[in-house]
Amino acid sequence: MFKIFVTSKISDSALNILKSVGEVEVWEKEETLNGPALLEKIKDQDAVLSMVNNFITDDILQQASKLKVIGNCGVGYNNIDIASAEKRGIVVTNTPDVLNDATADLTWALILGMARRIVEADHFVREGKFTGWLPHLFIGNMVYGKKLGIIGMGRIGSAVCQRAKGFNMKVYYYNRNPLPKEKEQEYNARYVDLETLLKECDYITIHAPLNEESYHLIGREELHLMKKDAYLINTSRGPLIDEQALYEHLKEGKIAGAALDVYEHEPKIVEGLLALDNVILLPHIGSATYETRTKMAELAANNIANVLSGKEPITPVTKGLKI
Ligand code: DGY
Repeated sequence: MFKIFVTSKISDSALNILKSVGEVEVWEKEETLNGPALLEKIKDQDAVLSMVNNFITDDILQQASKLKVIGNCGVGYNNIDIASAEKRGIVVTNTPDVLNDATADLTWALILGMARRIVEADHFVREGKFTGWLPHLFIGNMVYGKKLGIIGMGRIGSAVCQRAKGFNMKVYYYNRNPLPKEKEQEYNARYVDLETLLKECDYITIHAPLNEESYHLIGREELHLMKKDAYLINTSRGPLIDEQALYEHLKEGKIAGAALDVYEHEPKIVEGLLALDNVILLPHIGSATYETRTKMAELAANNIANVLSGKEPITPVTKGLKI
């Protein structure tokens, strides 16, 4: 019987998939497993269904000698030492696609929330400051008809782009490679270099994976290129932005605002950001809808079930097979 460890509560449907191939243990506590506690739990397991906040390091992989597959419940997998897993023949899988729409929806909530100062206005009402309609109360910026910049035109970036049609936006995108011409036409999006995108767009949203190339993709110099009335939105991974530089730009009013769902040193946040009005801060909830989290867990579970029964994983990140 294979032993499978799940690092957080998941849907019954996903648990049942795992139970069809092995004996399942679930970490039911709210506290996130990491370091020695995580190692202790997974060192004798054949499979682990992990979350994006479980850091599966080389050290852990070295000691988890029975581990055959890690089904990471997330499209991002920067929490796992992939090179180490590959070297040890451990299959790593992720959960792409099933979270595109939820993440794109949240990105739009942030674009609109930022532009129309929704959070600030909500606080104002709750604090009892609303004394009646005023001509200058919470004036924001238009989204309709403005220019949207998408950094990373993969599955999530494309879903964000499709939603921009309803807002009649001109879309510029920057990606490793341009999309095929038909796709560009379908999305009504133009491929540009990063500098052009930063200089011209009103709303700039990031949808690229975190890797060595993308670390601090938006640093001080890039922020400096943005327009004074432009907004930056990040629902991908925190380290793509130099958070300290962003804080300084926001504080000095060098850009209009930012909306962040992810942070450079998550869950820590550059302290000054908390005191600023021109930033919306969310606790990494891009994919957090009931439907999406269920689909993610099911996909992660199916990946594990496939690998343990000697089949190809559905969405592999690595190729090593230990079975
Ligand atoms: C992902 O899938 O990488 C998300 O950040 C987790 O919700």
